[in-house]
Amino acid sequence: MISTLLSRTSGADGDRAPRLLYGADYNPEQWSRSVWEEDVRLMREAGVNVVSVGIFSWARLQPAENTWDFGWLDEVLDLLHAGGIGADLATATASPPPWLTTAHPEILPVTADGTVLWPGARQHWRPTSPVFRAHALRLVRELATRYAGHPALVAWHVNNELGCHNVYDFSDDAARAFQNWLRVRYTTLDALNSAWGTAFWSQRYTDWEQILPPRQAASHPNPTQQLDFKRFSSDALKEHLRAERDILREITPDVPVTTNFMVMGNTKGMNYPDWAQEIDFVSNDHYVHPGPQARDELSFSANLTSGISGGRPWFLMEHSTSAVNWQPVNVAKRPGDLARDSLLHVAHGADAVCYFQWRQSAAGAEKYHSAMVPHAGADSDLFRAVAALGATLKALAPVAGSEREAARVGILYDWESWWASEQDSHPSSLLDYRQEALDWYSALLALGVRADLVTTRADLHRHQVLVAPVLHMVPADLAKTLTRYTEQGGHLITTYFSGVVDEHDHVWLGGYPGALRELLGIRIEEFGPLLDGDTVELDDATTGSLWTDRITVAPGTDVLARYRTGVHAGRAAVTRKATGTGSAAYVSTRLGVAGLTSLLPRLLAPAGVESELPTEVRGLIETTVRSGPGGRFLFLVNRTDTAVPVRGLDGEVLLGTTEGDGGALVLGPRAVAVLRQPAG
Ligand code: GLA
Ligand code: GLA
Repeated sequence: MISTLLSRTSGADGDRAPRLLYGADYNPEQWSRSVWEEDVRLMREAGVNVVSVGIFSWARLQPAENTWDFGWLDEVLDLLHAGGIGADLATATASPPPWLTTAHPEILPVTADGTVLWPGARQHWRPTSPVFRAHALRLVRELATRYAGHPALVAWHVNNELGCHNVYDFSDDAARAFQNWLRVRYTTLDALNSAWGTAFWSQRYTDWEQILPPRQAASHPNPTQQLDFKRFSSDALKEHLRAERDILREITPDVPVTTNFMVMGNTKGMNYPDWAQEIDFVSNDHYVHPGPQARDELSFSANLTSGISGGRPWFLMEHSTSAVNWQPVNVAKRPGDLARDSLLHVAHGADAVCYFQWRQSAAGAEKYHSAMVPHAGADSDLFRAVAALGATLKALAPVAGSEREAARVGILYDWESWWASEQDSHPSSLLDYRQEALDWYSALLALGVRADLVTTRADLHRHQVLVAPVLHMVPADLAKTLTRYTEQGGHLITTYFSGVVDEHDHVWLGGYPGALRELLGIRIEEFGPLLDGDTVELDDATTGSLWTDRITVAPGTDVLARYRTGVHAGRAAVTRKATGTGSAAYVSTRLGVAGLTSLLPRLLAPAGVESELPTEVRGLIETTVRSGPGGRFLFLVNRTDTAVPVRGLDGEVLLGTTEGDGGALVLGPRAVAVLRQPAG
């Protein structure tokens, strides 16, 4: 639990009241000792109370196989502790040192086409290498033993962004581990042959050792092999996480363990809802990708992180104060973006706000990546904005520890459907699982309707409406869960290419959407994907792209919209079947944010769901609710670049400005306000 972490971090004044954490990755090994002292002074000035240390320090901590150098880190941790700053201590295993890769080149990852990923950057290790594992665990044991009693130690940070560069390794180590993983999953070769459909293209296996990762092949590799390799690769990294964690728990049972996830953009290799079961609190890294939905995507990622964390508070381990260095063009943030971006994460449950990194590097591949202390130094607008946010977070201390209050709408985000829906040799390679989910989310934001991103592990019954975009893979038990959900009054909304396959990626026969055909009361005989740029008009004035279906509607199913143009003109495009007090709706084309914004009120109406916000600010303001013993905290985030007055909401203003005496709360451009209401 993050509460263990919160209670381990105490201010220099010894104040143990709950508070939000603030800080960064701290890489003192890049600087001289005189800079360290200035660092701690500036950290205190900025309100920093936690930093992540040692993430890339392996070569410094263990300069040769049997030589250890902890003196510098002892000193760093002592300085931090004296400054009242906690250390989220990394296990330093993310980037193996040159002496190790020279002695053991067999730890280097191999791509699908056999290319070795050489050292010289970072994360050049095979998740399944026994040699790498042994060296990494030795380092973890040394570190944990050395710092077990250090008062600065508040949490363990396993490795760093596991899988960022090395999730898919096709080496011989990976092949052996994959075979073992498959033996556990299938027990017999007959079961594997059946699950993989190896009757196709003469792929039948007669020995486990014949099975390889889906290396570069002459044509499309077996889809179930590809899918299982995704599952295996996520599990292989999870095994590494568990191996490090077990040592940490053995030596320091009271220190919580985390690892930083990458719930952002198209990072899909790691099944985070599954990994979250292995750690004491969830951490996430997020970077803004420029574009029209940039901040909706930030909100979406933060919201999904909260879902992965089961609604409990989580730790924002990294984001940026301004530009990054790894996009084609690295745009600086505008005034106000820094605070708004950070607070949007807090709105979605972050109890810690940390950046990559504390002090901007003078050398190395990330020297043009922003930091809390920029190249210009502390006499800069950026550092002043950093310090101002530190003060804001202090004022928001009562929020610490509060949990997400369930929204009436849930959006189901499922890693297995994500993986399966985007495999190769499909009806359309243009399908983008995350983008479809993000479009529904943006449409709900545009309507001012609060929604929770949830995973299949969540209690779906908490939500009156469940949107499940592109729920492609529906095993029999998920179909049952969804049927029960609607029978008990839930309103399910799903889309094109849903319900099509089972857990082995075998098609449910008899007409699409197979597993959901009865529930949705429709039948589709053939998919109708659209060429890039082609569109169809619907009779409700929305426009579809990407996909269409030739739907036959069963008796009792309502048609909410029909195609007006295209080969399916006159036929159903959007349907809904009532199921007792609930319903199940199907949207057969990609409507985009504008189309979904226009359609959604009709889909939400049967559940009686509408915005909780005053009419005039719907779409302009994003709202979230966190609640705990300290109260019910209503976050209001201005999504626009102009000031928005908000009237008619009760509560003590914890953050924000009001106009005149008892007047409206006024949210400046991109500003965030927080109202505290009595605990419910
Ligand atoms: C990731 C890494 C950091 C740094 C940042 C830069 O999040 O964990 O070490 O490379 O990206 O954005
Ligand atoms: C070729 C092959 C077939 C099949 C089709 C699919 O014609 O001979 O086995 O793969 O392509 O279009």
